[in-house]
Amino acid sequence: MIYITGTGQLGQELQKVFRDTNKSFQAFPIEEWDICNTNQNEDILSKNPSFLINTAAYTAVDKAESDLKLAYEINSEAVLNLAQICKKRNIYFIHISTDFVFGKNPVVQNGNLKFWSTTDLSSPKGIYAESKKKGESYIENTLTDKYTIIRTSWLYSAYGNNFPKTILRLLNDPNRKELNVIEDQIGRPTWAYRLANFIELLVQNISNSIPVEKMYHFSNSGLASWYDFACAIQDIGLNKGILKEKKSITPIPTESYPTPAERPRFSVMDLTKSQSIMKNIPHWREDLEYCLSEDLIIKSWMNW
Ligand SMILES: NC(=O)c1ccc[n+]([C@@H]2O[C@H](COP(=O)([O-])OP(=O)(O)OC[C@H]3O[C@@H](n4cnc5c(N)ncnc54)[C@H](OP(=O)(O)O)[C@@H]3O)[C@@H](O)[C@H]2O)c1
Repeated sequence: MIYITGTGQLGQELQKVFRDTNKSFQAFPIEEWDICNTNQNEDILSKNPSFLINTAAYTAVDKAESDLKLAYEINSEAVLNLAQICKKRNIYFIHISTDFVFGKNPVVQNGNLKFWSTTDLSSPKGIYAESKKKGESYIENTLTDKYTIIRTSWLYSAYGNNFPKTILRLLNDPNRKELNVIEDQIGRPTWAYRLANFIELLVQNISNSIPVEKMYHFSNSGLASWYDFACAIQDIGLNKGILKEKKSITPIPTESYPTPAERPRFSVMDLTKSQSIMKNIPHWREDLEYCLSEDLIIKSWMNW
């Protein structure tokens, strides 16, 4: 049995993938399982699932700057408690972390910017990034085996709020003639469904006693700036007829769009280890096409 905390973007996509692959699982919304409630953690995990997948998180990056107590409670302290119970009960713990742990300037290697590897020192900036890093460290210091941390980046899906949905909404606003989007932050957009596929393969490997790593970097392949991502959303939206009119999108520097939390300028992670589990990781643009073909995403942003 697989237990899943959190029913946000990834939690929803995992349910879809596990249903399609006939896995036994139970997914708990926050109303049924609040991971900050240590009694509830003990109680629910006393049923001894084989796997715990923690997708629950405080993900409001800017809000975290003024709401740090809650961000640390969810992203760090609750994770420590879950890891301790998993250790006691011999439950395999799969936890999700973020590319935002790489906040420092990129390193140039052989004339190119180096993609962050799982062995590179992290450099979180801001409360969200620091709280997620602390959660990682708690797991590494509590568990010696039976855990895997997966860092991912720029998640989007048909569920919840995310960048593609915001861009579609803004482009569809008749009062808006143009859009300014940041061009000097580079990362890898990732469809939450593809990450769920990866996690299912990981669970399969572990269940079949195939050795796996303690840390993976998983994202879609290819890189993009937020500006590239927005342009692709517009192109695909127009092709699919979910947008009617092409608007001007202007690339702007980070300095022109100040936010409470600082974002990494280059958080592209090296996917080599993940490719031993998912051989051909699709390019982000290919998966963006799939996501924007889903009935659900069209209905959800049209209802805004
Ligand atoms: N989104 C991204 O761009 C991104 C990028 C890199 C890494 N990640 C990581 O990937 C993971 C999944 O992200 P996501 O995009 O699926 O996040 P999400 O859509 O924000 O979902 C997070 C879920 O956790 C729930 N939650 C919050 N506090 C909780 C608590 N105390 N107990 C139980 N559930 C709680 C939320 O419920 P409510 O909605 O009711 O609060 C929500 O359902 C997270 O670990 C995140 O840090 C995300």
